[in-house]
Amino acid sequence: RAALQAQSMALSDAMRIACDFYRQNLRSAPQAITYLQGRGLTGEIAAKFGLGYVADNWDSLRAVFPDYEAMALVECGLVIDRTDEEGNNRKRYDRFRDRIMFPIRNAKGQVIGFGGRVLGQGEPKYLNSPETPLFQKGNELYGLFEARQAIREAGYVLVTEGYMDVVALAQLGFPQAVATLGTACTATHVHKLLRQTDHVIFSFDGDNAGRRAARRALDACLPHATDNKIIKFLFLPKEHDPDSYVREFGHEAFEQQVRDAMPLSQFLLNEVSGESDLSTHEGRARVQFDAKPLIQAMPPSSLRLQIVRGLAQLTQSAPTEIESLFELSKPVAR
Ligand code: UTP
Ligand code: MN
Ligand code: MN
Ligand code: MN
Ligand code: MN
Repeated sequence: RAALQAQSMALSDAMRIACDFYRQNLRSAPQAITYLQGRGLTGEIAAKFGLGYVADNWDSLRAVFPDYEAMALVECGLVIDRTDEEGNNRKRYDRFRDRIMFPIRNAKGQVIGFGGRVLGQGEPKYLNSPETPLFQKGNELYGLFEARQAIREAGYVLVTEGYMDVVALAQLGFPQAVATLGTACTATHVHKLLRQTDHVIFSFDGDNAGRRAARRALDACLPHATDNKIIKFLFLPKEHDPDSYVREFGHEAFEQQVRDAMPLSQFLLNEVSGESDLSTHEGRARVQFDAKPLIQAMPPSSLRLQIVRGLAQLTQSAPTEIESLFELSKPVAR
């Protein structure tokens, strides 16, 4: 029984020990400190986010895990076991080597995962913890624990793609930022966001991937787009992400971007009218066709009515025609 307990080091303890170790390592890693300084970050912000560093060794974690063979280290994704084709000659090594370490915390502040960035060039740019009992990537928002109070104070949350966006925004006076970690914005993400605030501003990268991410966020938000919520989309120039933009142009310029963010209704209408020729019957029909599933995904509300009116205007129809075409008065079949 005692042996069994010793075996089962709590995964969250292992993550905390590793996090403290990585943080400690950063102090004696001038190249890592120089890298972070080069990206405009102070020690204060690095400390707030618990940033760390892990050296270029195969088994750095032996220093803090005397029982490096413990199964818990595999289960929480800190080490990897490799065996030959027959399943013999198991070799164990650290997952993260020579990387800047970003701890990902849950709502209680416990470390549940890591993102590790190479210093400079290298593939993959970011290495993340695998899915573990503690960490499901599609459910977590990086920085939410650190941002919670600031979100309340600002009255809105900024939702970005990346670790560096969150940290750089905090450095430049926007501590109310979180990140989806490069994955699509999920229904779980939207739930978590709207539990914090009624005002969500998506701020993805200006490139095509960021644009696609915004579209997926729109889809995820529609079922929750009610009259008491404000959902907006901030579109940066193609070559920028929030990190590069706020560092190049400063706090005020980003504040202006926040003020100029596009409301959900406008983004939805832009998305459905983008490709089509509104001067033809076929083009206008196509816009209605594309808008139908989006509007049907929305709960009945004044906002939905406003969007229907906007669509009616674009497509030279009456709002009542669209409502009956889209069967908006009937409960949606499941
Ligand atoms: P980006 O490629 O936009 O990176 O990926 P970034 O955040 O701007 O990184 P910097 O500024 O070059 O340091 C956005 C997010 O996608 C995930 C990470 O969460 C990253 O922050 N990602 C990206 C990965 O998980 N792995 C990768 O190799 C790349
Ligand atoms: Mn508000
Ligand atoms: Mn990107
Ligand atoms: Mn980016
Ligand atoms: Mn970036």
